This record gives sequence, C-alpha cells and structure tokens, in this order.
Amino acid sequence: MSARVLCALLVGSALSLSLATWAQPAAVPPPEPNTLVPAGNARHAASAFPDRIVVSPAQDPARGFGVSWRSAAGAQPPVLEIVEAGDSPDMGTPRRVPARTRALRAENGEALHHQARVDGLQPDTLYAWRVQGAGAWSPWMHTRTLGAADAPLTVLYFGDTQNKNASLTTRVVREALRHAPDATLAVFTGDQVNGRDGDDDNEWGEWFESTAPLTTMLQVAPVAGNHEYTQHEDAAGERMTLGAHWPHAFALPGNGAPGAEPATYWFDAHGARFVVLDGTSALEHGTAQAQARWLEAALRDNPHPWAIALVHQPMYSPRQDRDNALLREHILPVLERERVDLVLQGHDHVYGRRGGEVPQRATPQYIVTVAGAKQYLVPEIVRRQMRPVAEDTQLFQVLRLEPARLRYEARTATGRLYDAFELRRETGEVRLVEIEAGRIPQRDCPRDVTPKGRTDRCWE
Ligand SMILES: [Fe+2]
Repeated sequence: MSARVLCALLVGSALSLSLATWAQPAAVPPPEPNTLVPAGNARHAASAFPDRIVVSPAQDPARGFGVSWRSAAGAQPPVLEIVEAGDSPDMGTPRRVPARTRALRAENGEALHHQARVDGLQPDTLYAWRVQGAGAWSPWMHTRTLGAADAPLTVLYFGDTQNKNASLTTRVVREALRHAPDATLAVFTGDQVNGRDGDDDNEWGEWFESTAPLTTMLQVAPVAGNHEYTQHEDAAGERMTLGAHWPHAFALPGNGAPGAEPATYWFDAHGARFVVLDGTSALEHGTAQAQARWLEAALRDNPHPWAIALVHQPMYSPRQDRDNALLREHILPVLERERVDLVLQGHDHVYGRRGGEVPQRATPQYIVTVAGAKQYLVPEIVRRQMRPVAEDTQLFQVLRLEPARLRYEARTATGRLYDAFELRRETGEVRLVEIEAGRIPQRDCPRDVTPKGRTDRCWE
C-alpha cells in the first residue's frame, strides 16, 4: 500500500490521533477559511465611499479605458473626473464623464455598481482621475494610456487567484508590481473568485483588496473562469450561468463573440492583439464554434506582429482526466492555423508550458499557471508533455513585448525565476529561445495529504 493511499485511509477513518500523527510525514495545519471575513461581519458591504475600482482596456487602450466601481445608494449621480496628470495639486477643471449605474443585491446587501467609459485620450499619457460614490470621492488615481505599436510593453499575467485572496493572493500581486513597475497592463486568466457558496460578495471584496492598487495603476483584462459562473438546476437540468457580479465588476470593450458577449472581447496593446475567450460558455453553452469564427476574424484582422489568446480552460490540460474536447475541436485549430504566439490559460492549479501541434514551430506556446492558494498535482504523463512544470507554487508572469522580441518570465511568489524564454521574430518566422540561466529547480508537492485531507491535490 502506498503512503498516499495509507494517508487517505487514515484521514478518512476514525483511527486514534496517535496513529494518524504517525502516518503523516509532516504536520499539516488545519484548513484556512476561504476569506478572512468572520461570519456575520459586514466589512465588504457597500458604503458612501467608492470601492472595487478597476480600469479595463477599451478596444484601443491607447485612446480610452473603462472604469467600474461600487458604492451604496446616494443622492449624487456617480461621475468620473479626469485630467492629464500634473505635478501641482491643482487639478484644474476636470472633464466629467457620466456613469451608468445598476443595482446588485448580494449577501452584503444592495450595492450600486457604476461604469464610466472614457474616450478621446492621448496615447502613452498619464491621466489623473477620480470617481464619486454616494457623496464621497475616491482618491485621485493615476493610469497611463497604452502607447504606440512599436513602443515596448510590459504585461503582468496571473493565473487563478480564486481562494483565500486577501490572505494569500495579496503577496503575489505585490511581488509582481515590485518586479515589473513599468507594467501598464495586467491579465487574469479566470477563477478570480471561488463563488457558488453564498459568499461571493466577500470573495469579490477580497479580490479587489488583494489586487489593489494594481487595478487602478494598470489596465486590467480579466478572463471569466468556470467559478465566475453559478451552477444551478432548472427544469432543463443542470445549468451554469455567468454570475451576477461579472457584468458589474468590469467595464469591458463589448466587442465579443455572438452568444458569448459578456466575457469575450479583444483589444490592441502596442504591437499585440489580445483576444479573450470564454471557455465555460464554449463548453457549457454551445458557443465554441461561434467563438472560433469570431477568434479567427479577430486574428486575421490583426495588423500587429504579436497575437495573444487568453482562455481559462487549457487546450492541453495538465490535470489527470481533464480534457476540454470542445475547445480542442473548435478553438485549438484556429490558434494553430493563425499562429497565435501565446495562449495564456489557468484552471488546473499547476504550472506547465508546451508547444503546439507542430513540434518544429515555436508558436503557439501554451501556458497554464496559478497565482492563488489552491494547488493540484501534475500527473506523470503531463511531465512528459510539458516543461517546465510546477506543483505547490504560487506564480506571476511578466511579458515584455517589442516589435521583434517577446520575453516571457514566470516567477514564484517570492520573485524567483521559474521559467523564461524569448520569441524572436526573424525574417518573418518566430524562433523560440529558451532561457535556462537563473531558473530555480523544479518544484514538486512535498506532502501526501492536504489540510482538508485530500490526496488528489497538493494544497487545500
Ligand atoms: Fe477553473
């Protein structure tokens, strides 16, 4: 009997404490609650003060962006004020941009969610802006518009944050900002929250808490994961519906695929086109073909050297017994045919990278990563298909794009280099250059059982 099976039997039975202690190789702490919010505490209820403030790219983020925020109900109409940032505290006469407001009732009571879309901005320009809640203003925020196609761009990429965001995602985001203070764009590849458990509003509160101040300093492009959906049963059987928070939480470009509009969109950032897919809608709502056609049109129309696709569920799943067949049937051929450079994914709570269907080609590079606390295991077969892989590791990624070179780095929660490569565009072809120097060794799960007694995961 293996140690892992023995541990499972011990944890699942009522054997004596002394025997259980003997069976577990290392002390495992008790499981941590999913949020830091004690039962009954209303810390994340809406107030007069604007909160959950996040900037998202417009279709052309050099010229505009959208801002979402939240407040309690109040007398004054919510509005955004914006000026070109200067060194004087005198903000002059700001331009006022009205917001659209919608109400949302969750476990913390009713809140008003506001969205303002700012256009007509100048590229590569630092703007100061603030938003009004229910009679109270936010601080003046600074956000830089994106720049020209040939100007360098730095992007932060985070996998699933999902669980224990205030407790354990916060440190990853702060380390990422420290390593890439020049980043102007951040992408999150889904499962920002765990959801589905009646605690969604506290979880969203903690996601914003853990990601601040990134969400106002950078433009944030989120992907919807399956945990942004709610699962329920109706007369037609089990259904997944995009959660109520999603359309309120982010002011997105609104240029999505037919049938999957709320969580699909594209935008251009310097010399790259970013296309965001909704894997859950593709898998559960039958929109895979519509998204594939829309993706193909967005890629064929791409005037830029680089193309980056984002989707929560991986094309090649690094988790045992997971295969997103509909994505592989409809989306994968488009990614391959149109020579997307990077496919940024999440969902499987490990790290793994691999090339595509044609081994001789440098692209696409398919990446799965995880920022948050939930950690799964990498099966043996995946270890032969992906390199590098990692278990038991919170990560962030830094992408640095220039017209002829894309540098990628995956770093651990403490900032150590885990994976790195460059894509170099030379005479029309893209070449992959692995960067091995400075990488730390492969990280594998050091424990047989999680704090929750699971032997099929590494943490929680
Ligand atoms: Fe997921």
